[in-house]
Amino acid sequence: MKSIAVLTSGGDAPGMNPCIRAVVRTALFNGKKVFGIRDGYSGLLSENFSEMKAREVGGILQRGGTILGTSRSREFYSEESQAKAAEILRKSDIEGLVVIGGDGSLRGARVLSKLGIKVVGVPASIDNDIWGTHMSIGVDTALNTIRGAVDKLRDTASSHRRAFLIETMGRNCGYLAVMAGLISGAEVVIIPETETTVEEVAESVEKAYHRGKTHSIIIVAEGASLKAQDLVNSLNEMTVGFSTRVTILGHIQRGGRPSAFDRLMATRMGVAAAQALLNDQSDVMVALQGRNVDLVPLEKVVSQQRAANLEYYEMCKMLAF
Ligand code: F6P
Repeated sequence: MKSIAVLTSGGDAPGMNPCIRAVVRTALFNGKKVFGIRDGYSGLLSENFSEMKAREVGGILQRGGTILGTSRSREFYSEESQAKAAEILRKSDIEGLVVIGGDGSLRGARVLSKLGIKVVGVPASIDNDIWGTHMSIGVDTALNTIRGAVDKLRDTASSHRRAFLIETMGRNCGYLAVMAGLISGAEVVIIPETETTVEEVAESVEKAYHRGKTHSIIIVAEGASLKAQDLVNSLNEMTVGFSTRVTILGHIQRGGRPSAFDRLMATRMGVAAAQALLNDQSDVMVALQGRNVDLVPLEKVVSQQRAANLEYYEMCKMLAF
C-alpha cells in the first residue's frame, strides 16, 4: 500500500485532531503518502482532498473540533453515491481509508469496505454508543465539560434552594447522563434505557427536600422518553418543595480542548488504525478493550449498539440519599 487517506465524519468530537495527526504521521513515518479528505463523505464525493505533510498536523493536538471538517452527508446514503465514492478513491490511487466518526460514519466505512476499499474505522462520538470499544474519542472530554457545568449549576441551585434539571446529549444512549449523575451526585438520572415516570421524579425530589437537601440535581439524557422541558413544567406545577429550573447543555458538550485521556487514546487509536491499513488489514475498527487498543470487525460494530451500564445507574440511585 503506497497511499492512504483519512476523513472525519458525523458529529465532531474532541480528540479527532490528535487522531488525524497520529494517522498522518504514522503513514509518513512509514514512507507512505497520506491524503486529508475535507468535510467527511461529502468531501470525498466532491473530490475535496489533498496530500498532507507533517507540518499540516502540527499544533493541533490540543485543538477541539476537526481540522478536516465534518458533515452528516445525506448524499452518501444512496448506493449510487457510495459506488461513486469507491470509484473516486480507486482512480486517485488511494488504497486505504481511515474513517474517524460515530456509528453512522462507521456504517459508511463498512459499505466502502464491501465495495472493495480497504477501510479501518476509529470510534469518535461523545455519545459512547459504539459497540466493541470501552470508550470512543471525545467521551471523556464531554463528560468533563458536563461535570464543570453541573458543578456550577449546583452552586446556584444550593444558594436558591432549587432543583435543576440538566439535559445531556447522547442520542439514544444514556451513558453520558449516568456517568454525569454518578460523578456529580445527582438525585435523579433519566435515561432511554429505563422507564421513569414524572411521579417517580417528583417523589425523589420532594423526599430530597424533606431530608434537608439544599438542592436537587436531575440529569436527563436527551433520548429519554421524559423530555426535560415538559418535566420542568410538570415539577413546577406539582409541589415538590424546590422550585425547578432547566438547563439544556447542548453543543458545548462537543467542543473544547481534548482531555489528556482523549489525546492519549486518540493518538493510540490513530497509530493503530494507520498501522492496521499498512499491514493490509481492513473492514475493522480500532477499539479500546481493557488497556489495549485492539481490532474488532466492522460488521459486528455496525450491527449492535452500546447502551448505558445499568450497574452504574443503580449505583447512582443507591448513593443519592
Ligand atoms: O452524536 C453526537 C451528537 O452530539 C448527539 O449527542 C446529538 O444527538 C447529535 O449529535 C446532535 O447532532 P447535530 O450536531 O447534527 O445537531
